[in-house]
Amino acid sequence: MTTAMPSVVSTPMLYPELFKQLESVRWDMEKDIPWSAFEAHSLTDEQAQTIKMNAITEWAALPATEMFLRDNRGDSDFCAFLSIWFFEEQKHSLVLMEYLRRFRPELVPTEAELHEVRFEFDPAPALETLMLHFCGEIRLNHWYRRAAEWHTEPVIKKIYTTLSQDEARHGGAYLRYMKRAITNFGCEAKAAFSKVGVLMASARRTAQALHPTNLHVNKSLFPRDTVQSRVPNPDWMDQWLNQQINFDAIWEGKVVDRILHNLSLLLDRSFKTVQELNRYRKETAQQVAQELAASVKSTSASVPSLSVP
Ligand SMILES: [Fe+2]
Ligand SMILES: [Fe+2]
Repeated sequence: MTTAMPSVVSTPMLYPELFKQLESVRWDMEKDIPWSAFEAHSLTDEQAQTIKMNAITEWAALPATEMFLRDNRGDSDFCAFLSIWFFEEQKHSLVLMEYLRRFRPELVPTEAELHEVRFEFDPAPALETLMLHFCGEIRLNHWYRRAAEWHTEPVIKKIYTTLSQDEARHGGAYLRYMKRAITNFGCEAKAAFSKVGVLMASARRTAQALHPTNLHVNKSLFPRDTVQSRVPNPDWMDQWLNQQINFDAIWEGKVVDRILHNLSLLLDRSFKTVQELNRYRKETAQQVAQELAASVKSTSASVPSLSVP
């Protein structure tokens, strides 16, 4: 399994087009957020606390970007796209902090609290990480849609709706890179995407919220090696999902459907259930193993043997 993508030269770069697309729909912090519509009586302390934790979680795009740039050194197109992704994710953190600065200044995260989520992630297979983040964007799009419904204060409702639309677009951009990876790496990419897809679409079987910020990413820092373990209240995400925004089985089902739908289009096979995707995962894993065995055989066949006198 590779930990970094080989150099990519065969397909046109996606960055110029993605830049244009994402720039054309970019929102303005000052003009597009209706700050003057704020209703003080509609914001509870409980809600304001969750905004703080969300702002810190979004800040974790910083170590994620450092990881992506390190693990994709051979792919300048993707790294250029990351400049957009990083900018937009940091802006998510900033708009939530700006909301707190205006209306709950005592809850604005300190620089130390933000810096706490910046830690090194262990190197990981680039194709699996790409799929992980694609699923993460889909999930976050749904979480933020639910958060917009749960909140009662109009400005923060609008902010969460705005963020959820950005997350959906990020998912779309990652999907373009996944499509390109299939063109460039074939079976290896299909195997990586279906493997992570099965894991990320199986949330109902695990107690943990399946999001990149909830995964262990640095063995030497265990157990404080998830982003969520390093925010001021490490239990907040579970409370937020289960008791506050109430992300129930119906919503979880929507996330799974989106993942399966997009993988069906990407892999050109219909997946109605995670089990069907799992079958495909096994097939492709087998194919990768066969291809590997065949290439080892052909390499060893072409190596001249040394004759001992
Ligand atoms: Fe975000
Ligand atoms: Fe995002």
